[in-house]
Amino acid sequence: MKTSVLIVDDELSMREFLTILLEREGYGVQSAANVELALAKIRDAVFDLVISDVNMPGLSGIELLREIKQVAPETVVLMITAFSAAEQAVEAMKLGAYDYIPKPFKIDEVKLLIKQALEKRDLKWENRLLKQQVQSHDSFCGIIGQSPKMRELFSLLQKVASSNSSVLILGESGTGKELAARAIHEKSQRRSKPFVAVNCGAIPETLIESELFGHKKGAFTGAVSDRAGLFEQAEGGTLLLDEIGELPLLLQTKLLRVLQEREFRRVGDAVTRKADIRLLTATNRDLQDQVKNGSFREDLYYRINVVQITMPPLRERVEDIPLLVEHFFKTLGGTATSSTFITPAALKLLMNYPFPGNIRELENIIERSLILDQTLLSEHSLPPQLTIGRGCCLGDEVDIPEEGMSLEPLLENLEKKYLQKALEKTGGAKKKAAALLGMTFRSFRYRLAKFGLDCEGE
Ligand SMILES: Nc1ncnc2c1ncn2[C@@H]1O[C@H](COP(=O)(O)OP(=O)(O)OP(=O)(O)O)[C@@H](O)[C@H]1O
Ligand SMILES: [Mg+2]
Repeated sequence: MKTSVLIVDDELSMREFLTILLEREGYGVQSAANVELALAKIRDAVFDLVISDVNMPGLSGIELLREIKQVAPETVVLMITAFSAAEQAVEAMKLGAYDYIPKPFKIDEVKLLIKQALEKRDLKWENRLLKQQVQSHDSFCGIIGQSPKMRELFSLLQKVASSNSSVLILGESGTGKELAARAIHEKSQRRSKPFVAVNCGAIPETLIESELFGHKKGAFTGAVSDRAGLFEQAEGGTLLLDEIGELPLLLQTKLLRVLQEREFRRVGDAVTRKADIRLLTATNRDLQDQVKNGSFREDLYYRINVVQITMPPLRERVEDIPLLVEHFFKTLGGTATSSTFITPAALKLLMNYPFPGNIRELENIIERSLILDQTLLSEHSLPPQLTIGRGCCLGDEVDIPEEGMSLEPLLENLEKKYLQKALEKTGGAKKKAAALLGMTFRSFRYRLAKFGLDCEGE
């Protein structure tokens, strides 16, 4: 991916000059004629570098600098100042500009300054990664994370582990529900006893009962000998019923009875056996919805839902991505030859990707990338869904009529349609809609307002 630069200057000649100069150096360049337009751009995309004039009609470059430091602190800012205005330069530096370029300037000086500024930025990234390596004890029973959401989760898991209550673990696919269940078991007094996990959706309906509770020889065709079920295998320990939403209604009734009476019978057997297990359940479905539409028993729902834990999706804790990348790089056999194992561009791509498949998807991406290059994760080894525009429905072929056309309204119209579609798909939930389009909530909201599509709510 090209290094992105935004040039902000009210003088057309200066914008054109810098654009040509920087494009020749291989940068991806955009420009804005005033601070208002620049603000719209920095809210939409993260730039590696912004070069801005200080003195412009309307808001000044200093205002822009302030805002950039708020919304995109990683962006490097260079200010162009009048030669005589030393105090402006000082102020810009105080506010976090990397450096200033006094007008008039020499081309070579500017080129060098830009190169240095970008190198410094890359170094900052690397240092940050190094720091994160040092703190890589940020985990709980193999669950990696250091974001506030994950810290909260760890303390909840710790508290829950010491009790014997049933726990319902919710979360999208790949968010680590099974990992959380194992952590609860590992931290509980049952840790020396078995942890047994079963996916209710993966067993044929006719076999679930015998799978869970076992059977007596001859109970049904194929029951050639007595067999213990998962409840017996997990005796004294913890049983995770994964994808609990998939459990057929008849079995829901049986499970409820076992949980109430704390005893069960093998299929075809008259003997009752005690069930000393701790029950954990997990699902990525909306169980409350299932209760409403009658496919999940309400009484069972309340019984398994004594404590509820929700695993946050990865896109809501982007700050954990570097740590997870490092973790998977190491555990999946990466062998870094220097202190850097990922390029800043690759990390940026990962941090901007919405990860519909959550951590499992990240894990798969790193695994695939390591096949291509074992020593360094770079933008070149990342799969195409990260590097090219995702989900675009335009064909490769575009055409421009002889008489010319207006691109802006066409693009705006297309953008508007995507925004509306996303809202429609999420039933008006803006955060989800933003994630669906791979943009930040902030940028999504800004676009809604721009097109007058804004309405109340999150
Ligand atoms: N916080 C984490 N740190 C490290 N690895 C994680 C984390 N969360 C998930 N993983 C890894 O991601 C993969 C998916 O996790 P897991 O199977 O627990 O997800 P799940 O929520 O049960 O998904 P599904 O709903 O698809 O069953 C596993 O390989 C797991 O080890
Ligand atoms: Mg699972």
